[in-house]
Amino acid sequence: MSESQSSDTQFFNSFSMVLGLLVAFAIVLFAVARSMGADSQGQAVLLEPLHLASVQKNIAPFAQVAIAGKDNSALAALSSPAGAAPAVAVPATGELAFTQVCSACHATGVNGAPKVGDHAAWAPRIAQGKETLYKDAIAGKGAMPPKGGTTWPDATIRMAVDYMISLNK
Ligand code: HEC
Repeated sequence: MSESQSSDTQFFNSFSMVLGLLVAFAIVLFAVARSMGADSQGQAVLLEPLHLASVQKNIAPFAQVAIAGKDNSALAALSSPAGAAPAVAVPATGELAFTQVCSACHATGVNGAPKVGDHAAWAPRIAQGKETLYKDAIAGKGAMPPKGGTTWPDATIRMAVDYMISLNK
């Protein structure tokens, strides 16, 4: 083998090795980025409807107009006499209950609360049956305070549980 041929071979070998290492490094970076994204992005995507709902609420028009002859029941809260003590606010839907209170722990998984969207955490709990979930949500369980720390009626808590289950199906 001539001198120049062997140095070409040497160059080719080390060049391929460098290329190979760079490709392997890129694949490792890609895998790491995917696994980091799975935690944060997945969560953001799952909670997106909640986020959108709160944005919608914040940018809703401040004033609403009651129209004679139309169904104005949605405005009822606004027409209650000013200064009257508001009745203990009981959310009307499971979703409202969840966003007002339950999400404080269940959106992020505070103190080991099963996180919304964490199917692995919810599957065994859902498998216990709805009645057990209702009972535990109402009476409390471990770090889960009875009724999530509220004084809402049992029916409201059940709606909130139903809503949470629906987010984890
Ligand atoms: C202070 C934080 C906190 C709040 C607020 C909270 N939870 Fe929880 N929740 C937890 C924790 C922690 C657990 C896990 C308890 C355990 O398994 O030891 C849990 C578990 C649960 C479970 C599963 C029970 C089971 O049998 O496995 C349900 C259902 C539940 N919560 C519903 C609710 C509802 C509905 C609300 C709102 C009304 C709510 N939670 C508010 C912390 C909270």
